[in-house]
Amino acid sequence: MRVTFVIFILLLKYRQIDGSTTPATQNGSVIQQVLQLCTIRYSMLSQFKDLVGCDEVRTLNPLCGRNLTVASSFMPPYVYQDNEKISGILPALLKEIIVDVCCLGCNTLHYLPQKGFIEKYAEQVNKPVDIVIPVQNHINRKTFFNAPYQTLMFVRDISMFGKKVHNPPKDIMSSLFWSMLRTWPLLLMALSMAMAAGCIIWLLDTWTNKRQFPRTLPYGPFEGLWWSFVSMTTVGYGDRTPTSTLARSFAILWIFVGISLFNMYTGTITSVITSELQKTIPFSVYGHRIGVLENVTAPNSTTIMAGGNPIVYKNITSLKNALQNEEIKAIAMESSMMQYYQKDLDDLGSEYFVQLKLEASENGIGFMALDPQLAKMTRNFYEENQDNIYTFWHESHKRYLGIESTLDFHEENSESTQTTIHGKEIFTPNHITFPITIAFTVVVSLACIVVAQLTDRRVQQRKKSMTSQQSSQRSRNGFPPKETENCNNCKEMTVQYKI
Ligand SMILES: *[C@@H]1O[C@H](CO)[C@@H](O)[C@H](O)[C@H]1NC(C)=O
Ligand SMILES: *[C@@H]1O[C@H](CO)[C@@H](O)[C@H](O)[C@H]1NC(C)=O
Ligand SMILES: *[C@@H]1O[C@H](CO)[C@@H](O)[C@H](O)[C@H]1NC(C)=O
Ligand SMILES: *[C@@H]1O[C@H](CO)[C@@H](O)[C@H](O)[C@H]1NC(C)=O
Ligand SMILES: *[C@@H]1O[C@H](CO)[C@@H](O)[C@H](O)[C@H]1NC(C)=O
Repeated sequence: MRVTFVIFILLLKYRQIDGSTTPATQNGSVIQQVLQLCTIRYSMLSQFKDLVGCDEVRTLNPLCGRNLTVASSFMPPYVYQDNEKISGILPALLKEIIVDVCCLGCNTLHYLPQKGFIEKYAEQVNKPVDIVIPVQNHINRKTFFNAPYQTLMFVRDISMFGKKVHNPPKDIMSSLFWSMLRTWPLLLMALSMAMAAGCIIWLLDTWTNKRQFPRTLPYGPFEGLWWSFVSMTTVGYGDRTPTSTLARSFAILWIFVGISLFNMYTGTITSVITSELQKTIPFSVYGHRIGVLENVTAPNSTTIMAGGNPIVYKNITSLKNALQNEEIKAIAMESSMMQYYQKDLDDLGSEYFVQLKLEASENGIGFMALDPQLAKMTRNFYEENQDNIYTFWHESHKRYLGIESTLDFHEENSESTQTTIHGKEIFTPNHITFPITIAFTVVVSLACIVVAQLTDRRVQQRKKSMTSQQSSQRSRNGFPPKETENCNNCKEMTVQYKI
Protein backbone atom coordinates (compact mmCIF):
# COMPACT_ATOMS: atom_id res chain seq x y z
CA MET A 1 0.00 0.00 0.00
CA ARG A 2 2.68 2.47 1.13
CA VAL A 3 4.97 1.37 -1.69
CA THR A 4 2.35 1.96 -4.37
CA PHE A 5 1.69 5.39 -2.91
CA VAL A 6 5.38 6.29 -3.10
CA ILE A 7 5.61 5.03 -6.67
CA PHE A 8 2.57 7.07 -7.55
CA ILE A 9 4.19 10.23 -6.16
CA LEU A 10 7.46 9.41 -7.91
CA LEU A 11 5.64 8.95 -11.17
CA LEU A 12 3.95 12.32 -10.84
CA LYS A 13 7.30 13.86 -10.11
CA TYR A 14 8.91 12.11 -13.02
CA ARG A 15 6.35 13.46 -15.46
CA GLN A 16 7.01 16.94 -14.20
CA ILE A 17 10.75 16.65 -14.65
CA ASP A 18 10.75 14.91 -17.93
CA GLY A 19 7.70 16.42 -19.55
CA SER A 20 6.89 13.05 -21.08
CA THR A 21 5.02 10.05 -19.74
CA THR A 22 6.68 6.78 -18.83
CA PRO A 23 4.85 3.47 -18.54
CA ALA A 24 4.25 2.65 -14.90
CA THR A 25 5.72 -0.78 -15.42
CA GLN A 26 9.18 0.71 -15.95
CA ASN A 27 9.55 1.10 -12.21
CA GLY A 28 13.35 0.85 -12.31
CA SER A 29 13.87 3.79 -14.61
CA VAL A 30 11.69 6.06 -12.45
CA ILE A 31 13.74 5.25 -9.38
CA GLN A 32 16.92 5.70 -11.36
CA GLN A 33 15.79 9.12 -12.46
CA VAL A 34 14.84 10.19 -8.93
CA LEU A 35 18.08 8.86 -7.51
CA GLN A 36 20.31 10.49 -10.09
CA LEU A 37 18.54 13.83 -9.85
CA CYS A 38 17.96 13.58 -6.08
CA THR A 39 14.41 14.89 -6.35
CA ILE A 40 13.45 13.21 -3.11
CA ARG A 41 10.94 14.58 -0.64
CA TYR A 42 12.68 14.67 2.74
CA SER A 43 9.51 13.56 4.51
CA MET A 44 9.30 10.44 2.28
CA LEU A 45 12.89 9.41 2.81
CA SER A 46 12.29 6.34 4.99
CA GLN A 47 9.63 4.97 2.61
CA PHE A 48 12.06 5.44 -0.23
CA LYS A 49 14.82 3.64 1.66
CA ASP A 50 12.54 0.65 2.16
CA LEU A 51 12.04 0.56 -1.59
CA VAL A 52 15.64 0.64 -2.80
CA GLY A 53 18.68 -1.20 -1.49
CA CYS A 54 22.24 0.11 -1.31
CA ASP A 55 23.51 -2.13 -4.08
CA GLU A 56 20.91 -0.75 -6.42
CA VAL A 57 21.71 2.82 -5.35
CA ARG A 58 25.42 2.32 -6.04
CA THR A 59 24.82 0.91 -9.49
CA LEU A 60 22.18 3.48 -10.40
CA ASN A 61 24.19 6.53 -9.27
CA PRO A 62 27.99 6.27 -9.68
CA LEU A 63 28.50 9.19 -7.27
CA CYS A 64 27.02 7.07 -4.51
CA GLY A 65 29.26 4.14 -5.46
CA ARG A 66 32.39 5.60 -3.90
CA ASN A 67 33.36 7.63 -0.84
CA LEU A 68 33.73 11.34 -1.53
CA THR A 69 36.70 13.38 -0.33
CA VAL A 70 36.08 16.81 1.17
CA ALA A 71 38.62 19.62 1.63
CA SER A 72 37.70 22.27 4.18
CA SER A 73 39.05 25.36 5.85
CA PHE A 74 38.24 26.86 9.23
CA MET A 75 35.25 29.16 9.31
CA PRO A 76 33.13 28.74 12.42
CA PRO A 77 30.34 27.94 12.86
CA TYR A 78 30.11 26.72 9.26
CA VAL A 79 33.21 24.53 9.43
CA TYR A 80 35.46 23.94 12.42
CA GLN A 81 37.57 21.26 13.95
CA ASP A 82 36.15 19.52 17.00
CA ASN A 83 38.45 16.92 18.61
CA GLU A 84 40.26 16.15 15.35
CA LYS A 85 36.87 15.77 13.70
CA ILE A 86 35.62 18.25 11.13
CA SER A 87 32.32 19.59 12.38
CA GLY A 88 29.96 22.48 11.76
CA ILE A 89 26.84 23.42 9.87
CA LEU A 90 28.17 22.75 6.36
CA PRO A 91 29.49 19.23 7.10
CA ALA A 92 26.14 18.50 8.76
CA LEU A 93 24.19 19.69 5.72
CA LEU A 94 26.52 17.87 3.31
CA LYS A 95 26.12 14.62 5.21
CA GLU A 96 22.37 15.03 5.34
CA ILE A 97 21.88 15.93 1.67
CA ILE A 98 24.59 14.08 -0.24
CA VAL A 99 24.92 10.98 1.90
CA ASP A 100 21.64 10.42 3.75
CA VAL A 101 19.17 11.70 1.17
CA CYS A 102 20.68 11.54 -2.31
CA CYS A 103 22.64 8.32 -1.75
CA LEU A 104 20.22 6.90 0.87
CA GLY A 105 23.10 6.50 3.37
CA CYS A 106 25.12 4.21 1.12
CA ASN A 107 28.43 6.11 1.01
CA THR A 108 30.51 8.33 3.32
CA LEU A 109 32.33 11.64 3.18
CA HIS A 110 36.03 11.56 3.85
CA TYR A 111 37.48 14.81 5.20
CA LEU A 112 41.06 15.83 4.41
CA PRO A 113 43.03 17.69 7.10
CA GLN A 114 42.13 21.41 7.17
CA LYS A 115 44.23 23.72 5.07
CA GLY A 116 44.37 27.46 4.44
CA PHE A 117 41.96 29.31 2.28
CA ILE A 118 43.76 29.38 -1.07
CA GLU A 119 45.52 26.06 -0.75
CA LYS A 120 42.36 24.07 -0.74
CA TYR A 121 41.41 25.35 -4.17
CA ALA A 122 44.81 24.40 -5.50
CA GLU A 123 44.32 21.06 -3.91
CA GLN A 124 41.05 20.63 -5.70
CA VAL A 125 42.73 21.14 -9.04
CA ASN A 126 45.71 18.92 -8.37
CA LYS A 127 44.27 16.13 -6.25
CA PRO A 128 41.08 14.18 -6.54
CA VAL A 129 39.00 16.23 -4.13
CA ASP A 130 35.27 15.97 -4.73
CA ILE A 131 33.96 18.77 -2.52
CA VAL A 132 35.46 22.01 -1.13
CA ILE A 133 33.86 23.88 1.78
CA PRO A 134 33.20 26.63 2.74
CA VAL A 135 32.73 28.77 -0.34
CA GLN A 136 31.10 32.19 -0.12
CA ASN A 137 29.12 33.25 -3.14
CA HIS A 138 25.93 34.82 -4.39
CA ILE A 139 23.07 32.49 -3.44
CA ASN A 140 21.94 31.85 -7.02
CA ARG A 141 25.35 31.43 -8.71
CA LYS A 142 26.06 28.05 -10.20
CA THR A 143 29.81 28.45 -10.52
CA PHE A 144 32.72 29.76 -8.48
CA PHE A 145 35.87 30.47 -10.54
CA ASN A 146 34.48 28.18 -13.26
CA ALA A 147 33.96 25.33 -10.81
CA PRO A 148 30.44 24.10 -10.08
CA TYR A 149 29.08 25.79 -6.95
CA GLN A 150 25.99 25.23 -4.83
CA THR A 151 24.74 27.26 -1.87
CA LEU A 152 24.06 25.21 1.24
CA MET A 153 22.70 27.99 3.42
CA PHE A 154 21.97 31.69 3.30
CA VAL A 155 23.81 34.42 5.14
CA ARG A 156 20.87 36.45 6.34
CA ASP A 157 22.35 39.40 8.14
CA ILE A 158 25.52 41.01 9.35
CA SER A 159 25.71 42.06 13.00
CA MET A 160 27.54 45.23 13.94
CA PHE A 161 28.97 44.66 17.39
CA GLY A 162 30.12 47.77 19.19
CA LYS A 163 29.99 49.93 22.27
CA LYS A 164 26.84 51.65 23.40
CA VAL A 165 26.90 55.36 22.66
CA HIS A 166 25.38 57.35 25.51
CA ASN A 167 23.21 60.38 25.15
CA PRO A 168 24.79 63.44 26.79
CA PRO A 169 22.75 64.26 29.98
CA LYS A 170 21.86 67.73 28.72
CA ASP A 171 20.28 66.19 25.65
CA ILE A 172 18.24 63.85 27.81
CA MET A 173 16.80 66.72 29.85
CA SER A 174 15.78 68.78 26.86
CA SER A 175 14.41 65.85 24.88
CA LEU A 176 12.50 64.75 27.98
CA PHE A 177 11.01 68.21 28.27
CA TRP A 178 9.95 68.32 24.66
CA SER A 179 8.52 64.83 24.69
CA MET A 180 6.49 65.66 27.78
CA LEU A 181 5.14 68.69 25.98
CA ARG A 182 4.09 66.34 23.22
CA THR A 183 1.57 64.72 25.57
CA TRP A 184 -0.58 67.89 25.51
CA PRO A 185 -3.47 66.38 23.52
CA LEU A 186 -4.12 63.80 26.21
CA LEU A 187 -3.77 66.38 28.97
CA LEU A 188 -6.16 68.71 27.18
CA MET A 189 -8.62 65.89 26.73
CA ALA A 190 -8.48 64.96 30.41
CA LEU A 191 -8.94 68.60 31.46
CA SER A 192 -11.84 69.24 29.11
CA MET A 193 -13.59 66.11 30.25
CA ALA A 194 -13.02 67.15 33.87
CA MET A 195 -14.53 70.52 32.98
CA ALA A 196 -17.67 68.94 31.51
CA ALA A 197 -18.01 66.55 34.44
CA GLY A 198 -17.48 69.39 36.94
CA CYS A 199 -20.19 71.45 35.30
CA ILE A 200 -22.62 68.54 35.38
CA ILE A 201 -21.93 67.78 39.04
CA TRP A 202 -22.45 71.42 39.87
CA LEU A 203 -25.73 71.50 37.97
CA LEU A 204 -26.95 68.36 39.72
CA ASP A 205 -25.94 69.33 43.23
CA THR A 206 -26.27 73.11 43.39
CA TRP A 207 -30.01 72.98 44.22
CA THR A 208 -29.55 71.07 47.46
CA ASN A 209 -25.94 71.88 48.31
CA LYS A 210 -25.59 75.59 47.77
CA ARG A 211 -22.88 75.97 50.38
CA GLN A 212 -20.34 73.76 48.49
CA PHE A 213 -21.54 74.37 44.94
CA PRO A 214 -22.77 77.99 44.93
CA ARG A 215 -25.24 78.92 42.24
CA THR A 216 -23.40 82.06 41.12
CA LEU A 217 -21.89 81.69 37.72
CA PRO A 218 -18.14 81.59 37.43
CA TYR A 219 -17.62 80.22 40.97
CA GLY A 220 -20.19 77.43 40.91
CA PRO A 221 -18.94 75.58 37.83
CA PHE A 222 -15.38 76.19 38.99
CA GLU A 223 -16.10 74.41 42.27
CA GLY A 224 -17.45 71.56 40.14
CA LEU A 225 -14.27 71.49 38.06
CA TRP A 226 -12.19 71.48 41.23
CA TRP A 227 -14.17 68.53 42.59
CA SER A 228 -13.93 66.53 39.33
CA PHE A 229 -10.20 67.18 38.97
CA VAL A 230 -9.44 66.23 42.58
CA SER A 231 -11.51 63.03 42.15
CA MET A 232 -9.94 62.17 38.81
CA THR A 233 -6.42 62.37 40.19
CA THR A 234 -7.49 60.22 43.18
CA VAL A 235 -6.30 63.01 45.47
CA GLY A 236 -9.81 63.35 46.91
CA TYR A 237 -9.48 66.29 49.34
CA GLY A 238 -13.15 65.98 50.16
CA ASP A 239 -13.58 69.73 50.59
CA ARG A 240 -16.36 69.52 47.99
CA THR A 241 -18.70 66.57 48.16
CA PRO A 242 -21.87 66.03 46.18
CA THR A 243 -24.83 65.22 48.42
CA SER A 244 -27.85 64.54 46.23
CA THR A 245 -28.48 60.99 45.01
CA LEU A 246 -28.45 62.06 41.38
CA ALA A 247 -25.13 63.92 41.74
CA ARG A 248 -23.58 61.01 43.60
CA SER A 249 -24.66 58.57 40.89
CA PHE A 250 -23.00 60.75 38.33
CA ALA A 251 -19.94 61.02 40.59
CA ILE A 252 -19.57 57.24 40.56
CA LEU A 253 -19.60 57.24 36.77
CA TRP A 254 -17.14 60.09 36.53
CA ILE A 255 -14.70 58.61 39.03
CA PHE A 256 -14.50 55.47 36.89
CA VAL A 257 -13.97 57.39 33.65
CA GLY A 258 -11.73 60.03 35.20
CA ILE A 259 -9.38 57.62 36.94
CA SER A 260 -8.93 55.61 33.73
CA LEU A 261 -8.23 58.78 31.82
CA PHE A 262 -5.74 60.03 34.36
CA ASN A 263 -3.98 56.66 34.49
CA MET A 264 -3.70 56.80 30.73
CA TYR A 265 -2.02 60.17 31.01
CA THR A 266 0.45 59.09 33.68
CA GLY A 267 1.13 55.90 31.69
CA THR A 268 1.95 57.95 28.62
CA ILE A 269 4.29 60.18 30.59
CA THR A 270 6.03 57.13 32.04
CA SER A 271 6.51 55.51 28.64
CA VAL A 272 7.78 58.76 27.18
CA ILE A 273 10.35 59.09 29.95
CA THR A 274 11.39 55.44 29.61
CA SER A 275 11.77 55.61 25.85
CA GLU A 276 13.68 58.90 26.07
CA LEU A 277 16.08 57.51 28.65
CA GLN A 278 16.66 54.37 26.63
CA LYS A 279 17.11 56.20 23.38
CA THR A 280 20.68 56.35 22.25
CA ILE A 281 22.32 58.06 19.34
CA PRO A 282 21.56 55.92 16.26
CA PHE A 283 24.45 53.64 15.46
CA SER A 284 25.98 54.39 12.10
CA VAL A 285 28.57 52.54 10.05
CA TYR A 286 28.97 55.30 7.50
CA GLY A 287 32.48 56.72 7.38
CA HIS A 288 33.74 54.59 10.27
CA ARG A 289 36.44 51.96 10.54
CA ILE A 290 34.79 48.54 10.97
CA GLY A 291 36.73 45.42 11.84
CA VAL A 292 36.15 42.24 9.83
CA LEU A 293 37.75 38.79 9.95
CA GLU A 294 39.95 37.85 7.04
CA ASN A 295 38.62 35.56 4.29
CA VAL A 296 35.01 36.36 5.17
CA THR A 297 33.39 38.21 2.30
CA ALA A 298 29.81 38.99 3.37
CA PRO A 299 30.70 41.32 6.30
CA ASN A 300 33.30 43.03 4.11
CA SER A 301 30.93 43.77 1.25
CA THR A 302 28.03 44.70 3.53
CA THR A 303 30.26 47.16 5.41
CA ILE A 304 31.35 48.74 2.14
CA MET A 305 27.73 48.98 0.98
CA ALA A 306 26.82 50.77 4.23
CA GLY A 307 29.61 53.29 3.62
CA GLY A 308 31.98 51.88 6.21
CA ASN A 309 35.69 51.22 5.90
CA PRO A 310 36.48 47.53 6.54
CA ILE A 311 39.73 46.75 8.35
CA VAL A 312 40.85 43.11 8.19
CA TYR A 313 42.02 41.26 11.32
CA LYS A 314 43.48 37.77 11.63
CA ASN A 315 41.43 36.43 14.51
CA ILE A 316 38.78 37.23 17.08
CA THR A 317 41.37 38.19 19.72
CA SER A 318 42.90 40.91 17.59
CA LEU A 319 39.42 42.12 16.64
CA LYS A 320 38.48 42.40 20.31
CA ASN A 321 41.65 44.30 21.13
CA ALA A 322 41.07 46.69 18.26
CA LEU A 323 37.54 47.37 19.46
CA GLN A 324 38.71 47.94 23.02
CA ASN A 325 41.48 50.32 21.88
CA GLU A 326 38.91 52.16 19.74
CA GLU A 327 40.88 51.47 16.58
CA ILE A 328 37.58 50.38 15.08
CA LYS A 329 34.03 51.43 15.84
CA ALA A 330 32.48 48.00 15.51
CA ILE A 331 33.05 44.39 14.51
CA ALA A 332 31.07 43.32 11.46
CA MET A 333 30.31 39.63 11.45
CA GLU A 334 27.73 37.21 10.16
CA SER A 335 25.11 36.78 12.85
CA SER A 336 25.59 33.02 13.04
CA MET A 337 29.37 33.44 13.33
CA MET A 338 28.87 36.03 16.03
CA GLN A 339 26.81 33.55 18.01
CA TYR A 340 29.73 31.14 17.78
CA TYR A 341 32.11 33.79 19.13
CA GLN A 342 29.61 35.09 21.69
CA LYS A 343 31.58 33.80 24.68
CA ASP A 344 34.75 35.61 23.55
CA LEU A 345 32.85 38.82 22.96
CA ASP A 346 31.04 38.65 26.31
CA ASP A 347 34.35 39.40 28.06
CA LEU A 348 34.12 42.96 26.79
CA GLY A 349 31.28 43.74 29.18
CA SER A 350 27.66 44.72 28.92
CA GLU A 351 28.45 48.07 27.30
CA TYR A 352 29.24 46.14 24.15
CA PHE A 353 26.49 44.46 22.18
CA VAL A 354 25.05 44.08 18.69
CA GLN A 355 24.08 47.63 17.81
CA LEU A 356 22.76 47.04 14.36
CA LYS A 357 21.90 44.25 11.96
CA LEU A 358 22.38 44.89 8.28
CA GLU A 359 20.88 42.68 5.62
CA ALA A 360 23.54 40.72 3.75
CA SER A 361 21.88 40.77 0.38
CA GLU A 362 21.91 37.46 -1.49
CA ASN A 363 24.97 36.04 0.21
CA GLY A 364 25.30 32.32 0.59
CA ILE A 365 27.75 29.75 1.90
CA GLY A 366 28.11 26.51 0.06
CA PHE A 367 30.45 24.08 -1.62
CA MET A 368 32.44 23.71 -4.81
CA ALA A 369 32.33 20.32 -6.50
CA LEU A 370 34.53 18.59 -9.05
CA ASP A 371 31.55 16.78 -10.52
CA PRO A 372 28.77 19.18 -11.56
CA GLN A 373 26.31 16.37 -10.81
CA LEU A 374 26.93 16.81 -7.05
CA ALA A 375 25.97 20.50 -7.15
CA LYS A 376 22.99 19.70 -9.33
CA MET A 377 21.75 16.98 -6.98
CA THR A 378 21.84 19.35 -4.03
CA ARG A 379 20.06 22.04 -6.03
CA ASN A 380 17.33 19.58 -7.02
CA PHE A 381 16.91 18.46 -3.43
CA TYR A 382 16.50 22.08 -2.30
CA GLU A 383 14.00 22.80 -5.05
CA GLU A 384 12.01 19.71 -4.21
CA ASN A 385 11.89 20.66 -0.51
CA GLN A 386 11.68 24.41 -0.91
CA ASP A 387 8.45 24.69 1.08
CA ASN A 388 10.04 23.51 4.33
CA ILE A 389 13.72 24.11 3.83
CA TYR A 390 14.01 26.01 7.14
CA THR A 391 12.59 23.04 9.02
CA PHE A 392 15.08 20.84 7.25
CA TRP A 393 17.95 23.11 8.25
CA HIS A 394 16.84 23.16 11.87
CA GLU A 395 16.43 19.40 12.02
CA SER A 396 19.73 18.51 10.42
CA HIS A 397 21.45 21.03 12.65
CA LYS A 398 19.95 19.36 15.69
CA ARG A 399 20.66 15.87 14.43
CA TYR A 400 24.30 16.27 13.53
CA LEU A 401 25.54 18.89 15.94
CA GLY A 402 23.44 17.57 18.80
CA ILE A 403 22.29 21.05 19.80
CA GLU A 404 19.21 23.08 19.22
CA SER A 405 19.88 25.55 16.42
CA THR A 406 20.13 29.17 17.49
CA LEU A 407 20.77 30.40 13.99
CA ASP A 408 18.47 32.73 12.16
CA PHE A 409 17.40 30.17 9.61
CA HIS A 410 13.94 31.52 9.47
CA GLU A 411 13.16 34.83 7.84
CA GLU A 412 10.71 35.82 10.54
CA ASN A 413 13.32 35.39 13.25
CA SER A 414 15.79 37.76 11.65
CA GLU A 415 13.37 40.64 11.70
CA SER A 416 14.66 43.12 14.21
CA THR A 417 12.05 43.85 16.83
CA GLN A 418 12.54 47.46 17.71
CA THR A 419 9.35 48.64 19.31
CA THR A 420 9.88 51.86 21.16
CA ILE A 421 6.86 53.76 22.30
CA HIS A 422 6.84 57.46 21.82
CA GLY A 423 4.27 59.63 23.53
CA LYS A 424 3.67 61.35 20.24
CA GLU A 425 2.49 58.17 18.62
CA ILE A 426 0.20 57.11 21.44
CA PHE A 427 -1.95 60.18 21.23
CA THR A 428 -1.95 62.47 18.28
CA PRO A 429 -4.26 65.42 17.80
CA ASN A 430 -4.74 64.09 14.27
CA HIS A 431 -6.68 61.13 15.56
CA ILE A 432 -10.42 61.62 15.11
CA THR A 433 -11.19 60.91 18.79
CA PHE A 434 -9.35 64.02 19.87
CA PRO A 435 -11.40 66.77 18.14
CA ILE A 436 -14.60 64.82 18.81
CA THR A 437 -13.90 64.62 22.53
CA ILE A 438 -12.93 68.27 22.80
CA ALA A 439 -16.01 69.41 20.85
CA PHE A 440 -18.26 67.11 22.85
CA THR A 441 -17.00 68.33 26.22
CA VAL A 442 -17.25 71.99 25.19
CA VAL A 443 -20.85 71.44 24.04
CA VAL A 444 -21.69 69.60 27.27
CA SER A 445 -20.20 72.40 29.40
CA LEU A 446 -22.02 75.09 27.48
CA ALA A 447 -25.28 73.16 27.62
CA CYS A 448 -24.82 72.66 31.34
CA ILE A 449 -24.35 76.38 31.93
CA VAL A 450 -27.30 77.28 29.71
CA VAL A 451 -29.53 74.80 31.53
CA ALA A 452 -28.33 76.19 34.84
CA GLN A 453 -29.11 79.73 33.71
CA LEU A 454 -32.57 78.86 32.45
CA THR A 455 -33.59 76.90 35.54
CA ASP A 456 -32.09 79.57 37.77
CA ARG A 457 -34.08 82.28 36.06
CA ARG A 458 -37.29 80.33 36.43
CA VAL A 459 -36.65 79.69 40.11
CA GLN A 460 -35.90 83.35 40.68
CA GLN A 461 -39.04 84.34 38.83
CA ARG A 462 -41.06 82.00 40.98
CA LYS A 463 -39.36 83.37 44.07
CA LYS A 464 -39.98 86.92 42.98
CA SER A 465 -43.66 86.26 42.49
CA MET A 466 -43.74 84.56 45.90
CA THR A 467 -42.06 87.51 47.61
CA SER A 468 -44.36 89.97 45.93
CA GLN A 469 -47.31 87.91 47.14
CA GLN A 470 -45.87 87.83 50.63
CA SER A 471 -45.16 91.56 50.73
CA SER A 472 -48.66 92.31 49.59
CA GLN A 473 -49.92 90.00 52.36
CA ARG A 474 -47.72 91.73 54.88
CA SER A 475 -48.85 95.18 53.93
CA ARG A 476 -52.39 94.00 54.38
CA ASN A 477 -51.91 92.32 57.82
CA GLY A 478 -49.15 94.51 59.27
CA PHE A 479 -47.24 91.33 60.26
CA PRO A 480 -43.97 89.89 58.95
CA PRO A 481 -44.28 86.90 56.61
CA LYS A 482 -43.66 83.37 57.92
CA GLU A 483 -40.03 82.34 57.72
CA THR A 484 -39.31 80.00 54.86
CA GLU A 485 -36.37 77.65 55.08
CA ASN A 486 -34.58 78.56 51.92
CA CYS A 487 -35.01 82.26 52.39
CA ASN A 488 -31.74 84.06 52.91
CA ASN A 489 -32.88 87.51 53.90
CA CYS A 490 -35.44 86.37 56.41
CA LYS A 491 -33.35 86.98 59.50
CA GLU A 492 -32.39 90.43 58.35
CA MET A 493 -35.96 91.20 57.57
CA THR A 494 -37.05 89.97 60.99
CA VAL A 495 -34.37 92.06 62.66
CA GLN A 496 -35.40 95.09 60.66
CA TYR A 497 -38.90 94.51 61.62
CA LYS A 498 -38.08 94.42 65.34
CA ILE A 499 -36.26 97.70 65.09
C1 LIG B 1 9.87 -1.83 -8.52
O1 LIG B 1 11.22 -2.07 -8.15
C2 LIG B 1 11.37 -2.77 -6.92
C3 LIG B 1 12.84 -2.81 -6.56
O2 LIG B 1 13.60 -3.04 -7.66
C4 LIG B 1 10.75 -4.13 -7.04
O3 LIG B 1 10.87 -4.83 -5.80
C5 LIG B 1 9.29 -3.99 -7.41
O4 LIG B 1 8.71 -5.26 -7.60
C6 LIG B 1 9.13 -3.16 -8.68
N1 LIG B 1 7.72 -2.89 -8.92
C7 LIG B 1 7.14 -3.02 -10.12
C8 LIG B 1 5.71 -2.66 -10.18
O5 LIG B 1 7.77 -3.35 -11.10
C1 LIG C 1 33.90 4.13 2.30
O1 LIG C 1 34.17 4.36 3.67
C2 LIG C 1 33.66 3.38 4.54
C3 LIG C 1 33.89 3.81 5.95
O2 LIG C 1 34.89 4.75 6.05
C4 LIG C 1 34.34 2.03 4.23
O3 LIG C 1 33.82 1.05 5.09
C5 LIG C 1 34.07 1.69 2.78
O4 LIG C 1 34.80 0.50 2.44
C6 LIG C 1 34.50 2.78 1.85
N1 LIG C 1 34.08 2.47 0.53
C7 LIG C 1 34.88 2.60 -0.55
C8 LIG C 1 34.29 2.24 -1.86
O5 LIG C 1 36.02 3.02 -0.46
C1 LIG D 1 42.76 33.38 5.08
O1 LIG D 1 43.43 33.18 3.85
C2 LIG D 1 44.83 33.17 3.94
C3 LIG D 1 45.39 33.08 2.55
O2 LIG D 1 45.00 31.92 1.94
C4 LIG D 1 45.27 32.00 4.83
O3 LIG D 1 46.66 31.97 4.94
C5 LIG D 1 44.64 32.16 6.20
O4 LIG D 1 44.92 31.06 7.02
C6 LIG D 1 43.15 32.32 6.09
N1 LIG D 1 42.61 32.65 7.39
C7 LIG D 1 41.67 31.95 7.97
C8 LIG D 1 41.22 32.42 9.31
O5 LIG D 1 41.19 30.95 7.47
C1 LIG E 1 36.33 43.71 0.56
O1 LIG E 1 35.51 44.07 -0.55
C2 LIG E 1 36.12 44.91 -1.49
C3 LIG E 1 35.09 45.27 -2.53
O2 LIG E 1 34.29 44.18 -2.87
C4 LIG E 1 37.36 44.25 -2.07
O3 LIG E 1 38.00 45.14 -2.96
C5 LIG E 1 38.31 43.88 -0.94
O4 LIG E 1 39.40 43.18 -1.42
C6 LIG E 1 37.59 43.02 0.08
N1 LIG E 1 38.47 42.75 1.20
C7 LIG E 1 38.55 41.58 1.77
C8 LIG E 1 39.50 41.48 2.90
O5 LIG E 1 37.92 40.63 1.39
C1 LIG F 1 45.70 36.48 16.52
O1 LIG F 1 46.46 37.20 15.55
C2 LIG F 1 47.59 37.87 16.05
C3 LIG F 1 48.24 38.60 14.92
O2 LIG F 1 47.30 39.32 14.19
C4 LIG F 1 48.54 36.89 16.71
O3 LIG F 1 49.64 37.56 17.28
C5 LIG F 1 47.79 36.12 17.79
O4 LIG F 1 48.63 35.11 18.32
C6 LIG F 1 46.54 35.46 17.23
N1 LIG F 1 45.80 34.87 18.32
C7 LIG F 1 45.28 33.65 18.25
C8 LIG F 1 44.52 33.19 19.44
O5 LIG F 1 45.41 32.96 17.27
